[in-house]
Amino acid sequence: MAGNPAIKPLLRALAREPNKVPPIWLMRQAGRYLPEYRAIREKAESFLDLCFNPTLAVEVTLQPIRRFGFDAAILFSDILVVPYALGQQVTFEAGEGPRLDALGEPSALARLRTEIDHERLGWVYETIAGVKGQLPSDVAFLGFCGAPWTVATYMVAGRGTADQLPARIFAYRHPEAFARLIDLLIEASASYLVRQFKAGVDAVQIFDTWAGVLPADEFRRWCIEPVTRIISAVRGQVPTARIIGFPRGAGTELPRYLDVVPIDAVGLDWMTELNFAREHIQPRRTVQGNLDPLALLVGGAALDRATDAILEALGHGPFIFNLGHGILPETPIAHVERLIARVRGHV
Ligand code: CP3
Repeated sequence: MAGNPAIKPLLRALAREPNKVPPIWLMRQAGRYLPEYRAIREKAESFLDLCFNPTLAVEVTLQPIRRFGFDAAILFSDILVVPYALGQQVTFEAGEGPRLDALGEPSALARLRTEIDHERLGWVYETIAGVKGQLPSDVAFLGFCGAPWTVATYMVAGRGTADQLPARIFAYRHPEAFARLIDLLIEASASYLVRQFKAGVDAVQIFDTWAGVLPADEFRRWCIEPVTRIISAVRGQVPTARIIGFPRGAGTELPRYLDVVPIDAVGLDWMTELNFAREHIQPRRTVQGNLDPLALLVGGAALDRATDAILEALGHGPFIFNLGHGILPETPIAHVERLIARVRGHV
């Protein structure tokens, strides 16, 4: 189940053991900026068909490892497969993003299953087993899920929205129904992560991409508490489960998040100030981050400067190099190569 931390730099970092060179991986490292991804993507009818095909999903998961030698592979899937496994319709329109049958009213919750249907996710567990068999022994394997709040924003609105207004309005207008939806997602996500660990991932990341739009009280109720409950449930079944949290945009609420949420590492968004991270976050948790994806897209002096500042501030303690959010599809490959070489001290 859990990989051997001694030989995987990323697992060493999660255990707060020192690494000479910081491990590096990038959120959304398998994706459209890679020509080999686009070539495989063309073979599948839709993005979900690509996910549902373990042969192709294994290949896509491994592409960035082969090309760049990252220290972690992340399962190729999406956070919205959980609503799909709860019976919601989910599609991805090319160039437009996800579309779901929106849960506009509390009565619509009745359309959902009462628990996650693992048969609809069999391909995830097959993909994990397939990757596991081919991964170099020093490369960590990450599973993931979306945090309940972030997943709920898509379930309620039926699509990505500016400032997640539909879910925020739903939560104020129908707090009990919204709490039922969050409870359902807590149970589904915990069960899903346990299955990922049993299939062979070394650690998981919980993506709370839209945590930053909530007022502090709502943040506690819909982000801090649900993620804490997921972690308790997962560790009830997999006591050694290593977990990275990514409460994007948590800002000044981040210390309070860490007071409660028993994650091993925290993914920092690119807005997080480096001295604050070094002084107040890194003593408490391994930190992961936090290069601005735009600096990587632009490259040159902007990229080198931002990379060096992160290494200088965070590279002397428990640390995993990453972006502060996903890599942008327009990012040149040469910039990714430059970043990795710089993090590893080669240029
Ligand atoms: O990181 C990886 O390489 C692993 C795979 C992964 C994907 N999505 C693949 C994907 C992961 C970890 C995610 C997480 C995810 N998905 C999040 C949380 C992190 C984040 O980036 O904010 C969210 C909010 C989603 C929901 C989602 N999926 C949206 C809004 C979109 C459309 C926007 C876009 O980037 O296209 C997706 C589609 C998606 N998920 C793609 C990929 C590679 C692009 C689809 C394609 O190739 O056609």
